Amino acid sequence: MAKFLVQKSGPLTGEVTISGSKNAVLPILAATLLSKEECVIKDVPALRDVDVMCRLLESLGANVDVDTVKHRVTVNASGELCSEAPYDLVKMMRASILVLGALLIRQGHAVIHLPGGCAIGERPIELHLKGLRALGATIDEELLSHGIVDAKADKLTGNDIYLDFPSVGATEVIIMAASLAEGTTILENAAQEPEIVDLANFLNKMGARIKGAGTDTIKIEGVQEFKGVAHHVIPDRIEAGTFMVAAAITGGNVLIRNMVPNHLKAVIAKLKECGVQVTMADDGVRVCAEKQPIVSTDIKTLPYPGFPTDMQSPFMALLTVAKGPSVVIETVFENRFMHVGEFNRMGANIKTDGKAAIIPGGKSLQGAQVVATDLRAGAAVVLAGLVAEGTTEVSQIYHIDRGYENFTEKLRGIGANIMRIDE
Ligand code: EPZ
Repeated sequence: MAKFLVQKSGPLTGEVTISGSKNAVLPILAATLLSKEECVIKDVPALRDVDVMCRLLESLGANVDVDTVKHRVTVNASGELCSEAPYDLVKMMRASILVLGALLIRQGHAVIHLPGGCAIGERPIELHLKGLRALGATIDEELLSHGIVDAKADKLTGNDIYLDFPSVGATEVIIMAASLAEGTTILENAAQEPEIVDLANFLNKMGARIKGAGTDTIKIEGVQEFKGVAHHVIPDRIEAGTFMVAAAITGGNVLIRNMVPNHLKAVIAKLKECGVQVTMADDGVRVCAEKQPIVSTDIKTLPYPGFPTDMQSPFMALLTVAKGPSVVIETVFENRFMHVGEFNRMGANIKTDGKAAIIPGGKSLQGAQVVATDLRAGAAVVLAGLVAEGTTEVSQIYHIDRGYENFTEKLRGIGANIMRIDE
């Protein structure tokens, strides 16, 4: 199995360019099934999850051309589609569920075998299904009790839908289905993430009539059909946040190119509380931690615009070495502290109690053999390895390959001492 060897690295300096957003491109690729004309998606990151989504679209009958050199994916879903998503692809990526709404509209039928829970939580989809039922879909309850979503709908009709939790995936699936339903849908307590806005912008380019994306109330007036369009995906705010922490934890000075500061207000505010200088430059965002020590702060993850759960583990790496104790409260996922055990193998001495992790801080971390327990936790232990004495060996790095394009090359480009060993 491949692994990373990370050595203590001096202050990271230079500049790094952020790739397109994984969590924007996945729903947008799913939404290409809604058009019978060709769509060209640009600034697509070369990631394992993107590869799985493209293979899923092909398995459903779309023609998909992936150009990793130009970071471009061309999809033509004009032909007859298949209604069933193959389990061998769905089990590789939970986000496969994002094709549910589009398949239902195109085929009037969608079958998706749900993967089990994952490292960070059970990942239910009852809100996705609540929305589709409200639009007129029927879900086979017997099959659902066996983990198979078998949804049917001769036609979908707009409705008022309230989400008990502002689920990102449920908001995306419902927006896609409602965009070609008959009549108007009002979605209340919707997720407000920038990736929702990017999806709505893509759908509106295709001819949808969506208003309010980025707020908690989204109005979708159904239209008849979509044309094919080209679309640039927004930058990956979590990759950007990860590299901001890499600069901070090493006391470095790095220019982060191709990021949208507005998408990371909570993270930038917390970095500043830790004493990190974050300044907007014409060609990017400069993160500087050369002058003063990193001090601790407390974090509570919340749906957007709150502090993003995906930045919880990378930021915790910084807090393990910050001066002073800190408390991290994870409110979005029920089991997203798997990285704590890995940090503790490096000497962080973190204690957890339910949703809270107490980080004493001020530690001099020691290199150790650690595991990437999920995508973001994997990046987090790499960040810790950059300041730990000795060598940190990170295994199960396929998790990291899912969401960070050219991770080692980008880190080495700003002076990190990291090597990938493909065994
Ligand atoms: C998206 O997952 C992201 N993935 C996740 O990023 C991100 O952590 C998450 O949103 C929260 O921001 C993609 O966009 C592909 P949710 P999603 O539905 O849509 C509960 C990464 O590292 N919930 O907003 O699955 C759920 O259990 C990944 O890039 C229900 O209870 O997230 C969780 O506790 C990890 N019932 C919380 O809501 C439902 O019907 C947030 O889930 C749906 C969700």
